[in-house]
Amino acid sequence: MATLDLTSISKSFGNAAVLHDISLAIRDKEFVVFVGPSGCGKSTLLRIIAGLEAATSGQIVIEGRDVSREHPVERGIAMVFQSYALYPHLTVYENIAFPLRVQKLAEAEVRQKVGRAAEILQLTDKLQLKPGQLSGGQRQRVAIGRSIVRNPKVFLFDEPLSNLDAALRGDMRVELSQLHRSLNATMVYVTHDQIEAMTMADRIVVLNAGRVEQFGTPMELYHHPATKFVASFIGQPNMNLVPATVREATGEGVTVELAGGHVMSVPVEGHAAMKGAKVEVGIRPENVTLAEGAGLDITVNVLERLGGVSITYGTIAGGTRFCATLPGDAAVAEGRNIALAVDPRDCHVFDASGKVLRRRQAPALVA
Ligand SMILES: Nc1ncnc2c1ncn2[C@@H]1O[C@H](COP(=O)(O)OP(=O)(O)O)[C@@H](O)[C@H]1O
Ligand SMILES: [Mg+2]
Repeated sequence: MATLDLTSISKSFGNAAVLHDISLAIRDKEFVVFVGPSGCGKSTLLRIIAGLEAATSGQIVIEGRDVSREHPVERGIAMVFQSYALYPHLTVYENIAFPLRVQKLAEAEVRQKVGRAAEILQLTDKLQLKPGQLSGGQRQRVAIGRSIVRNPKVFLFDEPLSNLDAALRGDMRVELSQLHRSLNATMVYVTHDQIEAMTMADRIVVLNAGRVEQFGTPMELYHHPATKFVASFIGQPNMNLVPATVREATGEGVTVELAGGHVMSVPVEGHAAMKGAKVEVGIRPENVTLAEGAGLDITVNVLERLGGVSITYGTIAGGTRFCATLPGDAAVAEGRNIALAVDPRDCHVFDASGKVLRRRQAPALVA
């Protein structure tokens, strides 16, 4: 049971605090992705788990055992980096075998372990080549192979696909997901790419400036973002955030007037004191349609017809930008005004601190 528990991890470099009180319970065999913008502390947190960096405070427990003070090699983890760090003069076979040579394993055992890793990674016919004769994706697989032979309890990946071109990244995403399934291991994967996070993760940790914004499944983050930060980080194109003023707020819902004058009632929990408050209303581009009648008015500035969809960039009166993902053949044109229908049930309301207002619970069914 390779569970990984972090309790109140904090880290400072000198006076600079880069991680603040991070607690996470990662389950056995889970694929967890740490995602967030560059500099938010993802690599530092991963290095602390690996034991390559010491936390300033907090505790790391793997399989129920406190490893906070253990040396990296004692922790039973393997780490794969963005730079593959392969030995150019060694064959693929010897690169994968390297950790086993350090352990001084018998040749038969080395052959068996390298053979199995090569099979999983489809490198069997490449074992006698040198890294220079491989593609970027194959080199990354060799680096992963080197971690597999150590049979770790937890795999750690730090942006392993960043050096690859876009098409290959797509292929490798699928391969890594399959690898996770075939190894049945706990994996923690760091990326700044929300598509990688959404497609590969069982659960995602969104980090912002050294703090956990939210920890949940991809669909939880998409449908129920806890903060404006998460809302704008997950989803493509980004969620629209429209400034608005609360006209009325009750336990039933919050009536808001959006910039430009459109009024709607969103089924989230508010209270009377919010009347007059400045908020932001989050509306995903894919959640709007062309209105039959009146709606949210926007002036179309740029239209990107991608075939299946038309990404429509416009502005609301007053200048707020708004993006809508409309059907491929939608009757829209640059320079024209259109009205958009918005279902308030798809909208999110964020208070001035960026926290989401809780969605109103559907009334319980009476038996
Ligand atoms: N060894 C170090 N000494 C001082 N500051 C560091 C060190 N390593 C990382 N940092 C700082 O910690 C913050 C988080 O860095 P990092 O974990 O690498 O972010 P990410 O991987 O999310 O891009 C950054 O501001 C970075 O400059
Ligand atoms: Mg990093």
